Amino acid sequence: MTAAAEKRPIYLDCDTGIDDSLALAYLLASPDVELVGVGTVSGNTSAAQAARNSLALLELAGRSDVPVAVGAHDPLRGRFDGGVPHIHGHNGIGGVEVPEASRRPEEGTAAELLLRLSREYEGALEVVAVGPQTNLARALALDPALAGRVAAVTAMGGAALAPGNVTAVAEANIWNDPEAAQIVIEAGWKVTLVPLDITLENTLDEGDRARLLASPVPLARALGQMLDHYFEFYLPLYGVRSCPLHDPMAAAVAARGVVPTRAPAVAVEVDTTDGPGRGQTIADLRGQRRGALDQEGATVRVVLEIDRPLGPHLVDLLV
Ligand code: BDR
Ligand code: CA
Repeated sequence: MTAAAEKRPIYLDCDTGIDDSLALAYLLASPDVELVGVGTVSGNTSAAQAARNSLALLELAGRSDVPVAVGAHDPLRGRFDGGVPHIHGHNGIGGVEVPEASRRPEEGTAAELLLRLSREYEGALEVVAVGPQTNLARALALDPALAGRVAAVTAMGGAALAPGNVTAVAEANIWNDPEAAQIVIEAGWKVTLVPLDITLENTLDEGDRARLLASPVPLARALGQMLDHYFEFYLPLYGVRSCPLHDPMAAAVAARGVVPTRAPAVAVEVDTTDGPGRGQTIADLRGQRRGALDQEGATVRVVLEIDRPLGPHLVDLLV
């Protein structure tokens, strides 16, 4: 058995994205997991641009061995809306120019890559999904047995008790493809949902950015540069130049760099109507006042608290 095979294999599905880039870097640096594939989806930027970003960042990290596949350009219903350049920059990574990778994406789609890896690492593969969940839903449609071959899914998405960040109730990854999210939630596999409730409470600030910029690690320095743009967007929300840790939180929970201390398994449903609730993750958190109580039969765990702040640990790992 190779050293890589002893680590827990992880497939990352992302819309690379500044915080997606932090998640990618976190997984590469985590000692107990092995990133075995990356699939991209439209969200922060197009799926094609997200793949260019992922390939470039992997090459910067000296990890051109990790396959990258382009996934769904459009959600299951409707069309990709063009992304959020005001949050993630015109190229998805804050306008930072990382040298273009010398290799191309895989021939097949992200859904096909996920299916291939689920067979190669049957029973062991874990999925970390930090973009809209279109590729996961497409893979389940191609092969519903996928759910039985994957050990766990950790997804950044939703808002349990917190407000949304696109509408009053909807978080971006779910908002961008609510139908896909509902398919993923009811597929029967073990899902850990990492919602805004916890990601907005964990941040990076200028001190953290300075540490990244001063790092001898090229990927850490590129991340420090990207954060300049990201901090600007979040200035009105936090009142200081800083940012939340959405996608790295999902990566850290999956890699067990942080441990959820309150994460009940409860019934979760995505609002797929066309009303004002579209994209809401309705988590049944009744009866949780005296501690986390798992509901019988629930397959979705909702992370509400973790054991330590993610920010300092994230920067320690990346520099
Ligand atoms: C999520 O939406 C995207 O913009 C981020 O990358 C993150 O995955 C936060 O709502
Ligand atoms: Ca993302």
